Amino acid sequence: MNDFSFIDEELKLLTKENLKRDIKTVLTAGGAWVETSNGKRVLQFGSNNYLGLANHPEIINASKNSVSKFGTGSTGSRLLSGTTELHVQLEKAIADFEGTEDSTFFSSGYLANLGVISALTGKEDAIYSDELNHASIIDGIRLSRAEKFIYRHTDLNHLEELIKNNSSKYRNNFIITETVFSMDGDIAPLERIAEIAQTHSCITIIDEAHATGIFGKNSRGIAEETNLENKFPIRIGTCSKALGVEGGFCAAPRNINELLKNKSRAFMFSTSPGPGVCGAVLKSIDLIKDGNWRKEKLWEVAKKLHSGLKKNYKLILNEFKTPIICIYLNEIQEALNLSERLFNECHIWAPAIRPPTVKQPRIRLTPIATHSQDDIEYVIKAFEHVSRDLKPQPITF
Ligand SMILES: Cc1ncc(COP(=O)(O)O)c(C=O)c1O
Repeated sequence: MNDFSFIDEELKLLTKENLKRDIKTVLTAGGAWVETSNGKRVLQFGSNNYLGLANHPEIINASKNSVSKFGTGSTGSRLLSGTTELHVQLEKAIADFEGTEDSTFFSSGYLANLGVISALTGKEDAIYSDELNHASIIDGIRLSRAEKFIYRHTDLNHLEELIKNNSSKYRNNFIITETVFSMDGDIAPLERIAEIAQTHSCITIIDEAHATGIFGKNSRGIAEETNLENKFPIRIGTCSKALGVEGGFCAAPRNINELLKNKSRAFMFSTSPGPGVCGAVLKSIDLIKDGNWRKEKLWEVAKKLHSGLKKNYKLILNEFKTPIICIYLNEIQEALNLSERLFNECHIWAPAIRPPTVKQPRIRLTPIATHSQDDIEYVIKAFEHVSRDLKPQPITF
């Protein structure tokens, strides 16, 4: 007989360490306000729906039309029956949007990182990775069997030291970083990374998951914002955040995409994203290209929220660099209590983020372009209410 007692032991341990997750169910479309399964209408501050596009009528219609024409399932992997006209159009649209020769579309941003890193690097190579890179980058590196060197978060002296000490032993040396760090909302110093890459002949891969749609004149991300796109020719993105849909992509020169389509296991051995997703992303890209007003609205509400919370001396905040706003806490239990009180007493969904996602517990707030000024003022007041019992003490990072 199977003995599953080890599973119960593991679950017990997670509960004891405050690490067992409680998953909330949403009953309505993603937006500034959502209804959850206990019938509560709450202000959403825990989504990645930065521009509010996840519930946009034109995107919904585009998705419906694509399903009507091509059906619900793509019927196979991209290399077999799963490449419709829409997949081809979408990869062209992503390349046009990103200003690259070509692109490859994956079922998610997670799979894009797994697929790209493991296809482009191998056991003869070294990868230098920021210690706060996302789990999908970490897993991609594991899958690649390349030698990994983790540099302290944005510490480029450490990065350069690791490269100097090790690079001669490897076929290729890759530097991989997120551009906007998803859990702290800070930004990678791309200019200096580009210099280091050039000096030591390293290849760079950047993940713009939380920057696409939010930074740059054409909303392509931090590489565009800092005028460094030519130094970062391999760019990973996701359509699940500002674009409001799902799927991930690699925008890169033609030969890299050709190799990905022939070698990337995440691309080759999984059924391709459905037509409804492709149609929705195509429309979302159109809307993002169409104007910057949603982006400006997002920045306006994010700034108001950050500066309002900053006046609350009980709260330790991150610096305002991106719309990702963090309130750091010392204990997991403190973060959980605060999040629960915000939800139960104030109808605000502000998730507690804890290990293994991050080392330092925190509340992570992500405003949406469709939040009103009143919504933001309400949240600032709610934090005054729930932080009354917090002891203002220095955070031990
Ligand atoms: C930096 C980063 N890369 C990749 C991903 C994965 O993207 P997706 O949710 O589309 O799978 C995430 C998701 O949170 C992320 O934060």
